[in-house]
Amino acid sequence: MSPVRMGLGWDVHRIAAGRPLILGGVTVPSEFGFEGHSDADVLSHAITDAILGAAALGDIGMHFPDTDARWKGADSLVLLSEACRMAREAGFEIVNVDSTVILERPKLKDFRMAIRERLAGTLGIAVERVSVKFKTAEKVGPVGEGRSAEAQAIATLEQRG
Ligand code: C5P
Ligand code: MG
Repeated sequence: MSPVRMGLGWDVHRIAAGRPLILGGVTVPSEFGFEGHSDADVLSHAITDAILGAAALGDIGMHFPDTDARWKGADSLVLLSEACRMAREAGFEIVNVDSTVILERPKLKDFRMAIRERLAGTLGIAVERVSVKFKTAEKVGPVGEGRSAEAQAIATLEQRG
């Protein structure tokens, strides 16, 4: 049986004025950000679910409920690193992560390397194994109209021999 496991993650947050726009732990200069109980880092949340999914360890809301005052304003990289710790404790190594952020504006490509480096440090893997992509929604639907942002992620884990 193959020791390789894949996990899928997805998240959405509403856009709100006066909130920070944090992606993969990196604050992107913007006049608006994302609503949420934690720091609303939609990318880190999708990656956290991808890691948990690959290890079949449930989902982000199960481990870090938004009804728990402990996670109010939480740094989502802390949640991500905790998910990685749980996956490693269950006997997995993290092989790679690929992801896409869907946000109409601002342009994110200049922040790609900073985001990859921050995520790689949190995941405990080389930056070459962490991919972050950006897409607009072509002005269509809630993302395209600037009302929300989405992120998708996939993670590969390998069971230690
Ligand atoms: O969505 P679209 O295909 O038009 O995006 C074109 C390119 O613009 C993407 O490949 C991505 O590198 C960049 N982009 C970005 N910031 C966004 C959306 C897209 O840098 N918010
Ligand atoms: Mg979220």
